[in-house]
Amino acid sequence: MEHRLEIETMGKIKVFGPQRANGEITISGSKNSALPILAATLLTDEKIILHNIPNLADVNTMIEILENAGKKITWDESSLIIERYSNMNSVLPYGPVRRMRASFNVLGPLTIRNGYAKVALPGGCSIGVRPVNFHLEGLKKLGIESQIEHGFTHSKFIGAPEKVHISLPFPSVGATEHLITTAVLLDGTETILTNCAQEPEIVDLCNFLISMGAKIEGHGTSNIKICGVKELYGTEYTIIPDRIEAGTYAILGAIMGEKVTLNNVIEEHIFSLLDIFEKIGINYTMKNNILTIEGISKLELSPVDIETATFPGFPTDLQPQLMVLLSLIPGRSSITENVFKTRFNHVDELNRMGAKIFVEGNTAIITGVTKLSGAPLEATDLRASAALLIASLIADGETIINNVDHIFRGYEKLFEKLEKLGLEIEYYE
Ligand code: EPZ
Repeated sequence: MEHRLEIETMGKIKVFGPQRANGEITISGSKNSALPILAATLLTDEKIILHNIPNLADVNTMIEILENAGKKITWDESSLIIERYSNMNSVLPYGPVRRMRASFNVLGPLTIRNGYAKVALPGGCSIGVRPVNFHLEGLKKLGIESQIEHGFTHSKFIGAPEKVHISLPFPSVGATEHLITTAVLLDGTETILTNCAQEPEIVDLCNFLISMGAKIEGHGTSNIKICGVKELYGTEYTIIPDRIEAGTYAILGAIMGEKVTLNNVIEEHIFSLLDIFEKIGINYTMKNNILTIEGISKLELSPVDIETATFPGFPTDLQPQLMVLLSLIPGRSSITENVFKTRFNHVDELNRMGAKIFVEGNTAIITGVTKLSGAPLEATDLRASAALLIASLIADGETIINNVDHIFRGYEKLFEKLEKLGLEIEYYE
């Protein structure tokens, strides 16, 4: 089965709406767990087997990077077998790292294992400026000196002190993951991370590292303690389901569902969304990792004011999708974006469809309309693409979404799942 998804030309999606969703799908493994866990496989040469890995463009980019670093990686259905292929190479090609920010997290593990590394500096993307200063400042405290030259980060390990305390200025997911994945192999060093991220993907990464022999406490809280060890070992591990994919299909069900059933959903991971559903008045049942949404008339729903926040707050990665729902609820709602303050590229596109949304600072004010109408749209990033796809399925008439391939970075088996929900879309290049 051909697994590699290469994105050369950006494709388009054509949709005729409005449509109704009805059916049952299973949520895939988490992209944002798979990526940091794959980066962490650089911490050992022993064999690692990972299960429930989603077949996504981003995962294949990470595989390409690990292969460049000396790994041999084989797919077996939705599992990956990761083995050492050659001596570790810690000078990585520019392209794949530049293409995907999460790959920057290979820098720490490569530098600890090889004493040095050369990795491209990740860029920002359309959701906002995305510096890596927290990463580099934390790595420095762990004994890794870095210099930026010609778009690359050149790093070298100069030795770590016995005790390190790192307090993150903001609970950054990427910086927390990067520093944990580095500190675990600092033999004899005790690292205390405070104000760190508490996302379920962090807990999953730590459970994976512990299964390799790492010593970690406090994961899932804002204070994590890591006692570095000399060596880490091979393991077999199953990653968590994707809470953002689950949230996306749940919102789709709330907007156009008759009855939409999502299997393999962890309730604790989507509490904040379920809270909002209750405030709005959406009918849902959550039992035994199965979430069922029964659509009701938007006229019966209530507007709300929402703020995005780090976990356990409402995730920024569901903000664009939720905005589509709120744009169809009578009255005035608002969304304040606190994680990526300029993450509003989807607003103009939704207004092109007849939504009434205006942005003031980092708050979007949404006045509900009774319907959206189809239009030619531009997708700018992964979650904006998902939001525009949902909007096009409920809008009257034809919509063309250009530059839509972003969506393959984060939604596995998209066409198959939409078909199972009775939804029709057409993809073309
Ligand atoms: C992770 O990105 C996710 N990506 C993002 O999901 C998600 O939006 C984000 O966390 C927030 O939840 C992956 O897990 C692969 P951050 P990350 O570091 O780690 C600032 C998706 O759609 N910051 O928590 O890059 C930063 O600018 C993606 O799946 C610094 O200033 O996010 C932002 O404002 C999109 N300096 C805030 O912190 C740093 O060194 C949070 O960023 C690092 C971050």
